[in-house]
Amino acid sequence: MVAVITGASAGIGRALAEALAAGGARLALAARRADRLDALNRALGGGHLVVPTDVADRGQCESLVGRAVAHFGRLDSLVCNAGYGILRPVAGTSAEEMQAIFQANLFGTLDCIRAAIPLMRRQEPRGGWRGQVVIVSSVVARRGLPYFGAYSATKAAQLSLAEAMRIELRPEQIAVTSVHPIGTDTEFGDVSASLSAGRRPTTHSEIRQSARDVARAIVRGIERPRPEVWPFRPTRWGVGLATLLPSLADRVLAKRVIVDGAGEGRDRVME
Ligand SMILES: NC(=O)c1ccc[n+]([C@@H]2O[C@H](COP(=O)([O-])OP(=O)(O)OC[C@H]3O[C@@H](n4cnc5c(N)ncnc54)[C@H](OP(=O)(O)O)[C@@H]3O)[C@@H](O)[C@H]2O)c1
Repeated sequence: MVAVITGASAGIGRALAEALAAGGARLALAARRADRLDALNRALGGGHLVVPTDVADRGQCESLVGRAVAHFGRLDSLVCNAGYGILRPVAGTSAEEMQAIFQANLFGTLDCIRAAIPLMRRQEPRGGWRGQVVIVSSVVARRGLPYFGAYSATKAAQLSLAEAMRIELRPEQIAVTSVHPIGTDTEFGDVSASLSAGRRPTTHSEIRQSARDVARAIVRGIERPRPEVWPFRPTRWGVGLATLLPSLADRVLAKRVIVDGAGEGRDRVME
């Protein structure tokens, strides 16, 4: 099978590339850091396609999908994984910051999908599907996280698109799967801190997963397409309960997610 993976230079995307390549998939590896992608391609035997891509640029998303199909002749799974977070109270997030995070996390996802769907429609089905769109969203898609409000909003928007598209594209034999990891040990926290004056949230007794565990769950969702992949299944019930009991969820999250200096309004990041 052929997969395009955005955000393949680190974390979940890289772990997924390793897992899919081990199973014999041919990959188009996309991210901004070309040196990382080249190194990954070499580590995977060199038979994959490296396409340096900034998903915040629509033309680059279109070029990524076009080059992958021209090179491999088809596209079975488009994995929209590239993304980042920033630590800010919602009222302290500037318009520019909000636009930038939506441009990468949401519009980047959408621009890759828009380029891929017409090509998938023309493919012969394999195993009952002409193609699959996999969107790496988050557990926060179903319950916004304090101080990650802008990020949570992009993940919720990704989920809404996935839910709608899943039904729209089913008759055309194109599967849509959203993925909802919990906190995962990747570069995500470092990138967020670097964009947030070095601040990190302190979360109490947080369960975390490895990128490899998340990648394994995604691979299962590719082998047998399903609506949603929850790599840590108990959170699925947790967010269901949070929907039923929002006041309780507020109290739990207020105690669990603490940011030093939050609410004091002393610096720009936390204002
Ligand atoms: N880690 C977590 O706790 C967690 C939990 C739930 C969901 N997720 C989601 O999982 C996905 C992957 O995150 P991760 O945890 O693996 O973080 P990561 O280690 O920081 O990896 C993020 C990847 O996205 C790429 N990326 C970021 N902005 C991009 C852009 N504008 N254009 C192209 N590529 C871009 C990065 O590559 P370059 O910098 O080289 O471009 C990198 O390969 C994200 O969508 C994130 O929201 C993460």
